Amino acid sequence: MTPKSVRITGWGMYAPERRLTNADLERVVDTSDEWIVSRTGIRERRIAAAHETTATLAAIAGKRAIAVAGLQPDDIDVILVATLTPDYWMPSTGALVKEAIGNTKAPAMDVAAACSGFVYAYSIADAYVRSGVFKNALVIGAETLSRFMDYSDRSTCILFGDGAGAVVVSASDQEGGGMQGLEMTTDPDGAYMIWLPSGGSRSPVSGGTLARGEHYVRMEGKETYRFATKTMATTALTAIARAGWNADEIDLFIPHQANVRIIESVAKGLGLPMDKMFVNLDRYGNTSAASVPIALSEAVDSGRIKIGDKVVLVAFGAGLTSGGIALEWTADPVCGQRAAAVEPVARVREPIDWASVDSIPERLRQILDAREGPPVPLDDVAPGEPEPSRHEMPV
Ligand code: ACO
Repeated sequence: MTPKSVRITGWGMYAPERRLTNADLERVVDTSDEWIVSRTGIRERRIAAAHETTATLAAIAGKRAIAVAGLQPDDIDVILVATLTPDYWMPSTGALVKEAIGNTKAPAMDVAAACSGFVYAYSIADAYVRSGVFKNALVIGAETLSRFMDYSDRSTCILFGDGAGAVVVSASDQEGGGMQGLEMTTDPDGAYMIWLPSGGSRSPVSGGTLARGEHYVRMEGKETYRFATKTMATTALTAIARAGWNADEIDLFIPHQANVRIIESVAKGLGLPMDKMFVNLDRYGNTSAASVPIALSEAVDSGRIKIGDKVVLVAFGAGLTSGGIALEWTADPVCGQRAAAVEPVARVREPIDWASVDSIPERLRQILDAREGPPVPLDDVAPGEPEPSRHEMPV
């Protein structure tokens, strides 16, 4: 049976405790708090602890969204995890999340569309529920980008952080609400503007790829910036037009949190004041697929969204991809308080007979340890210098 409407009924987020500040980054790359804040708006990002992975972050956000929806884990019929930093190439992160949230029946899968991944995954969930295939879908955006950063490359490592956000998309027997307009684009002309060269079938990991640092994210910042400012506005406008709305009717935009200057330029392009744009990148940096659902959760929980509001989610990312959703908010924001009952812990199945690995890149560990323990001499962590092993560091 097809529902009368498809609505967001639950939302939730989780960000790791540890903060990596601009001051921390000043110690390892040639940058400054002033440069980062003025060029990006970012002040700090969250960094996953050694025991945390994309799946554990995703599971906590997912459990919170299920609690807010007033559902049990087994009420979820399908699980979609948008990520560009999966725990493994296989199994899917979705499979690990399924077990971690205590669901026994849903098919689970990953969606790869980089920073637009959450919007893409939401559109898939909406289609499943709208067509009557499933009743409740859990859609998560989750990333541990800190594991894929070159902490000697100042043009990328200052931008990205870790986190997860989630929504539950449910069938409703009431008319109206939910997604009213959708737009998605993929432009392979820019396929290598944001790129992780090795680890796939084109370039499997080898000693050579490691030595060349091809397991780290690479980016053409300026070109990406140009694409983002142009595409975010047109993608949002198309989604709004498909909903039959005008831009000035929108109560709140939830843009991908990449750079505050990009968001300002989108606001200008749409002829809207910045107070219509939700911004939290100062505290999280760019969390890729997690950025929109984290921002959405914070917007609802901080009272920026109320029942009946017209909201636009809009993202861009590697691919190059973009995605926009114009939606009418229908859930009572008070339900968000239910998330507080969910502890920030998740147990994800460990591989059998696999020696434990150090999941935090050595250079990042040194930055974090330098703040929390006695200072590491700057020379020891300067880019280009041979890295001291963990055991050689002062204790
Ligand atoms: N600290 C200090 N100086 C820096 C830093 C830094 N961290 N990074 C670059 N610089 C220098 C450059 O070397 C350059 O110096 P030069 O003039 O002597 O050559 C100068 O600052 C200006 O560099 P630009 O690259 O022109 O700086 P810009 O203002 O374009 O800002 C930035 C760079 C922040 C990367 C911007 O281009 C940007 O935000 N681009 C979009 C990136 C993005 O959103 N990526 C996410 C994509 S989503 C996904 O799918 C993952």
